[in-house]
Amino acid sequence: MCGIVGYIGGGSSGAKRIITDGLKRLEYRGYDSAGIALAADGGLIVEKSVGRIANLEKILNASSADSHAGIGHTRWATHGEPSDANAHPHTNADGSIAIVHNGIIENYIELKKWLTTEHGISFRSETDSEVAAHMIGLFYEGDLLDAVNKTVKKMRGAYAICAMAAAEPDKIVAVRKDAPLIAGIGENCNFLASDIPALLKYARMIYLIENNETVLVTRNDITIFNEAGKPVKRDVFHVTWDADAAEKGGYDHFMRKEIFEQPAGIAETLNRRLDENGEIKLDGISLTKQELDRIERIYIVACGTASHAGLVGKFAIEKFARIPAETDIASEFRYREPYIDDKTLVICISQSGETLDTLAALREAKSKGARVLSVVNVVGSSVARESDDVFYTWAGPEIAVASTKAFTTQLICMYLLALYMGRTRGILPDNEYKRVLSELGEMPDKLTKLLEDEPKIQNIAKKIYKNERIFFIGRGVDVSVALEGSLKLKEISYIHSFAIAAGELKHGTIALIDRDSLVVALASQDRLFEKLLSNIEEVKARGAYVIMLAKTGAGGMDKRADDVILIPACADDVTPILAVVPLQLLAYHVAKLRGCDIDKPKNLAKSVTVE
Ligand code: F6R
Repeated sequence: MCGIVGYIGGGSSGAKRIITDGLKRLEYRGYDSAGIALAADGGLIVEKSVGRIANLEKILNASSADSHAGIGHTRWATHGEPSDANAHPHTNADGSIAIVHNGIIENYIELKKWLTTEHGISFRSETDSEVAAHMIGLFYEGDLLDAVNKTVKKMRGAYAICAMAAAEPDKIVAVRKDAPLIAGIGENCNFLASDIPALLKYARMIYLIENNETVLVTRNDITIFNEAGKPVKRDVFHVTWDADAAEKGGYDHFMRKEIFEQPAGIAETLNRRLDENGEIKLDGISLTKQELDRIERIYIVACGTASHAGLVGKFAIEKFARIPAETDIASEFRYREPYIDDKTLVICISQSGETLDTLAALREAKSKGARVLSVVNVVGSSVARESDDVFYTWAGPEIAVASTKAFTTQLICMYLLALYMGRTRGILPDNEYKRVLSELGEMPDKLTKLLEDEPKIQNIAKKIYKNERIFFIGRGVDVSVALEGSLKLKEISYIHSFAIAAGELKHGTIALIDRDSLVVALASQDRLFEKLLSNIEEVKARGAYVIMLAKTGAGGMDKRADDVILIPACADDVTPILAVVPLQLLAYHVAKLRGCDIDKPKNLAKSVTVE
């Protein structure tokens, strides 16, 4: 989704380079146009362009204009098509105020009408954001902070807005409501941004701006104000991420790099939660026997890939902890009036911790008395801050839009939680607890070995990349992996893919299977292997080409499939951690052969901060 970068330093130059550099680091969030406003020569210079940041850079390089301060933006269209006119920054009528905005101003039609009819203002874009520029202009009487405060009082919706005034070139004012915003402390300079990667090169000390707070940034100061306009004290958050973690480091794409980072991410997520005796420790998370005995139901709430991790989580919690669990898609959960009371535990899963639907579901759950535990990757993100307890995944920054290492580390968290709950409740026998824990401990090495098979997956990708219809089938916990494999493939290769429980095929979907169909059959479950083979027979009988994914050993020896992908032998309960990886690689290589923009697929955004 949209990305924001603000910079204010000394001298008369630097802003152009630093802001475009920051915007490039936010490219992963997804965008369709970019722009920048610089305070220069007593005014504001605004440049913007549809398309990649490279287009904006061309315009900027052709001009000698630079500044000590500015604001930049990458736009992901919500209101109005991607175009130069709709790109941010937007200005008021005389160009003395410039703003960049992330989010949606829900009452913009009403505000636009008011600005047009009562103040004769005409609009140059189709965006909701432009109203903010005109309102700040209208309220401006020499104090940008005051004008921004008056403006937000009239606005409804979700937003992070950064504003500059030509008459106050040494200030940037920003405000946050339900859209991410951080302020970074640099050396003789300060920053604003949507996300940590934008600042990694320049600032390690940041302030996390909270909802309904306004922040005034000058070269030497960052002052945060609460809704009542009173300054608030905020602890500095030290970013420990390595600056290189957000670089490609020799890989062609972030996605491939992140696939290969999975053994390390899993090991880190495990090690952070195991004590010196190898027992699960949930420091900072309160789940005593008494508390767990009170819990009557668990909802796991998430979107996209994170919801697939939730499906595996449901399986693990019901199997190991014997507590009824449901996995819900956040956008549905928040509107379906689920049964929630103080005996309900809601587990939100989110890589970014900023997904608006997940955040809204979390708030809905809390307002109804549920306790919320979140599994989150981005430290200090909104979901993390608003939850009662946080179980962090230690995947490191995930830059590629297609989620990979966040998914497998989310799986680890869900298994650990389920085992811990079962053990603490006295339900899970000791030997079973130890068996699964030991299986999890073997995952980093098994994954490393599995990744050595990349050339085999690449060969399969060469055979299938022209296919336009791909089905993923599986049984048991493989259904969740089928859904994830299918999502990975469609989002980066644009092939129409569909995932379904193998047993459901003959209730309708088999009508679509013919000689042009490709079926990826997940057969990792020993106890369901024979049944899955029958499903393979059914689709083969209708002419489908079948790729089977199975464990090394008996299952993998079967000759019924046209191609076989093998994963290392492991217990049925933990196969998703391994089985998903060849599917990530398959999606990656198919997309590469099709010439797709793998890290930045069309229409997609990394952090979905609108409904
Ligand atoms: C797919 C993908 C998305 C996200 C979803 C939730 O590869 O990345 O489906 O999983 O948008 O995002 P988070 O986990 O940030 O809440």
